[in-house]
Amino acid sequence: MTIVHLRRARTSLVLDARGPGLPRVVHWGADLGPLRVEDLPALVDATVSPVVPSSFDAPTVLSLLPEASAGWSGRPGLAGHRRGRDWSTAFRLTDLDVHGEPAAPSPDGAAAGGHDLLGGAPLPAPGVNRGPFLSAGRVTVRAADPDAGLSLTVEITLDPAGVLTLRQRLRNDGDNGYEVRELTPVLPVPAVATELLDLTGRWCRERAPQRHPWPMGAWVREGRHGRTGHDATLLLVAGAPGFGFGHGEVWAVHTAWSGDHVTVAERRPTGEATLGGGELLAPGEVVLGPGEEYATPLLYAVWSADGLDGLSDALHTHLRARPSHPRTPRPVTLNVWEAVYFDHDLDRLRALADAAAEVGVERFVLDDGWFRGRRHDRAGLGDWWVDGEVWPDGLQPLIDHVRGRGMQFGLWVEPEMVNPDSDLFRAHPHWVLQTPGRLPPQWRHQQVLDLVDPDAYAYLRDRLDAVLSGHDGITYLKWDHNRDLTEAGHAGRPAVHAQTCAVYRLLDELRARHPGVEIESCSSGGARVDLEILGRTDRVWASDCNDALERLSIQRWTGLLLPPELIGTHIGPERSHTTHRVHDLGFRAVTALFGHHGIEWDITAIDATARAELTAWVALHKRLRPLLHGGRVVRVDHPDPAVQAHGVVAHDRSAAVYAVSRVATSAAQVPGVVRLPGLDPDRRYRVRPPAGVPEPAVLELVPPPWLASGAGVTLSGSVLASVGLQLPALHPEQALLLEAVAA
Ligand code: DGJ
Repeated sequence: MTIVHLRRARTSLVLDARGPGLPRVVHWGADLGPLRVEDLPALVDATVSPVVPSSFDAPTVLSLLPEASAGWSGRPGLAGHRRGRDWSTAFRLTDLDVHGEPAAPSPDGAAAGGHDLLGGAPLPAPGVNRGPFLSAGRVTVRAADPDAGLSLTVEITLDPAGVLTLRQRLRNDGDNGYEVRELTPVLPVPAVATELLDLTGRWCRERAPQRHPWPMGAWVREGRHGRTGHDATLLLVAGAPGFGFGHGEVWAVHTAWSGDHVTVAERRPTGEATLGGGELLAPGEVVLGPGEEYATPLLYAVWSADGLDGLSDALHTHLRARPSHPRTPRPVTLNVWEAVYFDHDLDRLRALADAAAEVGVERFVLDDGWFRGRRHDRAGLGDWWVDGEVWPDGLQPLIDHVRGRGMQFGLWVEPEMVNPDSDLFRAHPHWVLQTPGRLPPQWRHQQVLDLVDPDAYAYLRDRLDAVLSGHDGITYLKWDHNRDLTEAGHAGRPAVHAQTCAVYRLLDELRARHPGVEIESCSSGGARVDLEILGRTDRVWASDCNDALERLSIQRWTGLLLPPELIGTHIGPERSHTTHRVHDLGFRAVTALFGHHGIEWDITAIDATARAELTAWVALHKRLRPLLHGGRVVRVDHPDPAVQAHGVVAHDRSAAVYAVSRVATSAAQVPGVVRLPGLDPDRRYRVRPPAGVPEPAVLELVPPPWLASGAGVTLSGSVLASVGLQLPALHPEQALLLEAVAA
């Protein structure tokens, strides 16, 4: 049919959709400019492999859905069958919808429309174009294999931020069941990408990076937790050797799914390399009846010439452009969990609310422990009524008190879970995801409510609705999910897929009924962080670990995908309850500054000096909040692993804020120079620590001259990025905050 050129924000994707088979991605990466008409077939030809000995007699085609019938011997794009038949496909292109400008050849032969689409001009109205060559932002490919009784739709969008999304839909056109075992979109990556970076983790250590050369074979990151998982790789990145935060060409994908999923990098001896991702389906989990369709999760794909910061920049811009993106100032939050745990007492919580209001908190969140029987983590989940013994007058007196202090009120829930020690379980023991004849092993003394069961779903929806409607002033839910889904079946069939869809539906319904309520995605800390849950929630809880040292890394790598305003970052107690490390307030506050800021600490017990200092940090966050929550995130490639530096730069580059942390002792006594990236090279900036908050502890007799007077230093953005500033001799686990303001 045609060759399609998608162009947006310095990114191009060229799709050879001339048929007869499925289209092939010829290029995904740097913008190729407004290509000349005659260049497109030449570009395609320039990328076709030769035929070599001991191989197929014609060049093989790595299409949008790799197929054995096209000579692909790597991981198949589709695995499925119809009672052992129709196990291999040969899709033929049937239709192509291109949403964008038809590229009628211009007098000089350049394809028109390309320039218009650069820089994020809105997409023209949808239309079907069948011109010879096209420059566009969105394309829908339709194909069919009548012999196998299947048809396929592939939707590809390149948005104004340069973020690609892919979704495949498979329809069963046959007259009996077709089982989908796997359907995974992939994109080709050029040979220059020789290193892989992805993330793993565990409870309290989410999103730990791992990096290695990209070997032959498949690097497969599977999550079989029935939730996104502490170990999920937010991004799987392939890059040119030595890529860093600020340099190197990189390609990355994110599988947006909160159930079982897979993200894969595959390199073949035949020369191809791909990145892809999709859902992991259990045997028998998705069997399409006649006319039924299965849609993959969205696969997000981003390219950058400028390292990992470029990937984040595109993703953050994409997320910030969503209509649902939170646009009000993110309220400074006090969550009571690490202050009181299950020890709920109205007077104590009122006192905590008073202290919170005094230091500048704007949202007060009552965590676990408010509902029937929930005196500890072994009972109560599922019984979503206020516990009359602990709360004889209900929650309203506390809500009123909080609101009376000028704060919003939020409430913790863990909707998808049930304790066997609960009235709900006693009444409906079968409302639990399970395998016939046995319950899954318990985890935190709980099981998972079967939301595929319409009665269980309706019970839960109506209970949550009643809690929200029955109180005046609950405007926030912290939505927790504290276990994996294990042997998760419904009516004898695997049910993670259906449960995941049901949770999305539940969130959608509740949001429609209560549009003023914001929702936080929490899952034993940060085990449900993905872009599909974030389509229905307003922030994530990055980790149960509030230890600032651990948090530095957790937040840095969570920020690869998410902008700071979507990441909950709280100042915890002096001694971290998950690591027992002790940190002073300055280090905790600087670390928690770069996110959706909050406190999780019994601040009724702190002295007046600490309270004054905390008040100053909260005020500083509020002053910097528009910059922190709207600017471009930069991270420094520092040669000393004991130094971690990052910052946020205003989009007009008029100001920036940086944090430089010393995470350990270094080989050198002085940590050296830190370069400050992202500023306008031609403007001059005054750089200094912000006034009003204490400076970090150092071990030095005389400070570097630029820090001695408090007046800071004024230098050009080019000097700051290329030479940098000599750091003070920071003690380990201390952080220096710097503000740069254009002079
Ligand atoms: C796990 C969460 O991550 C914590 O913040 C807290 O809400 C507890 N659950 C409560 O049980």
